[in-house]
Amino acid sequence: MNILVIGSGGREHALCWAIAKSPECGTLYCAPGNGGIAEVAECVALSAHDFDAIVNFVREKDIGFVVIGPEDPLVKGLVDRLDAEGIASFGPTAKAALLEGSKGFTKDLCAEYGIPTAAYGRFSDADAAKAFIAAHGVPIVVKADGLAAGKGVIIAMTMQEAETAIDAIFGGRFGEAGAEVVVEEFLEGEEASFFALCDGTHVRPLVAAQDHKRVFDNDEGPNTGGMGAYSPAPVLTPDLTAQVMKEIIEPTVRAMRDKGTPYKGVLYAGLMITKSGPQLIEYNARFGDPETQVLMMRLASDVLPVLRACHDGTLDKAEIDWKDEVALTVVMAAAGYPGDYRKNTEIKGLKQAGALENVQIFHAGTKAEAGRIYATGGRVLNVTATGATTAQAQARAYEAIAKIDWREGFCRRDIGYRAIERETQGA
Ligand code: AMP
Ligand code: GLY
Repeated sequence: MNILVIGSGGREHALCWAIAKSPECGTLYCAPGNGGIAEVAECVALSAHDFDAIVNFVREKDIGFVVIGPEDPLVKGLVDRLDAEGIASFGPTAKAALLEGSKGFTKDLCAEYGIPTAAYGRFSDADAAKAFIAAHGVPIVVKADGLAAGKGVIIAMTMQEAETAIDAIFGGRFGEAGAEVVVEEFLEGEEASFFALCDGTHVRPLVAAQDHKRVFDNDEGPNTGGMGAYSPAPVLTPDLTAQVMKEIIEPTVRAMRDKGTPYKGVLYAGLMITKSGPQLIEYNARFGDPETQVLMMRLASDVLPVLRACHDGTLDKAEIDWKDEVALTVVMAAAGYPGDYRKNTEIKGLKQAGALENVQIFHAGTKAEAGRIYATGGRVLNVTATGATTAQAQARAYEAIAKIDWREGFCRRDIGYRAIERETQGA
């Protein structure tokens, strides 16, 4: 069967890499793809927003299944359109993707179904939001309701910061995404990324991962899309995993079905593991980036039948097995990221680095030109390695990075430190 993957990041490279290994995969296409994806799939210059062009391409190339990576086309209804055309795909419909597309929608659903999450208020005017903040005090968290490319969350440590955030959001900083604001209680604890697959009725947990969101070592500096990740996440013990499924994931899937908008695809729960148990920070309607890179390294089963089972409603029968090893990925980003950075700088040494045993390099923002690779984005490479322990996987990933010659790039040097601390304590 011919497959089309939509997206251009490290997540999509990892998905393409895993799908290409499937005996069921015919020709694999990726739109628009990147310089690394081009090694495992045929990249096509299609925009994720041009639904007509996608449908035409699917017909022309006899594509049997479409896998959608990023949230934007999901929230805008690409799956609805493909459903209407009789084209099978992986991902939720627009109404189901509201779990990511509207933070207010998700908070209300949590309130209605008793799902543990931070106390909150929803506001469409600044005065009411400020009154709520004054009543609750700081620290407090201010969020634009809609999609804001991961930038719509402000953790306010002072009243001044909270009020400035309210004014900025209602002043249009995030466009339409900021027409409404959610203000919520600040949760303390350790974060983890939890993934579950859903077919509308059945739900199966995948493994958990942890991400490093801050740009600099020791989790300092501004938030980013993620500077590195590893799986498993030792903070999520088997007991906690069972609790997350029972108290958070399963009630959500039931709620979506009750509302007549069953959820299909991957449900990615951002969790805070607090003293009083796991709480939902937010949902994403897609795979995490860079978490998918470590998930795909650990997946022992063929990914394609699993993704298709989410569409077909047969997830209860799908085979989902994992390798008993740690995978860790380090993001190499362009100097300056998450602020301004230079583009089109050349990266060398990728072949030598990728040739190391247990190493895979996924490209997040590159292009290939005349046999050379150039950086085109903020997050550029995901240098990923496996090992028996987090410490081993980490050492191998940094060994690979040492072989990469890219002066304009940088990475964190401490990816996985929490898991390594736990390993050391447990030893
Ligand atoms: P989000 O885009 O909702 O994932 O938020 C981005 C980051 O902000 C999260 O990964 C957390 O680190 C932080 N965050 C969001 N909501 C809260 C909260 N209620 N309490 C503490 N930290 C939060
Ligand atoms: N790693 C964070 C995200 O995918 O949103």
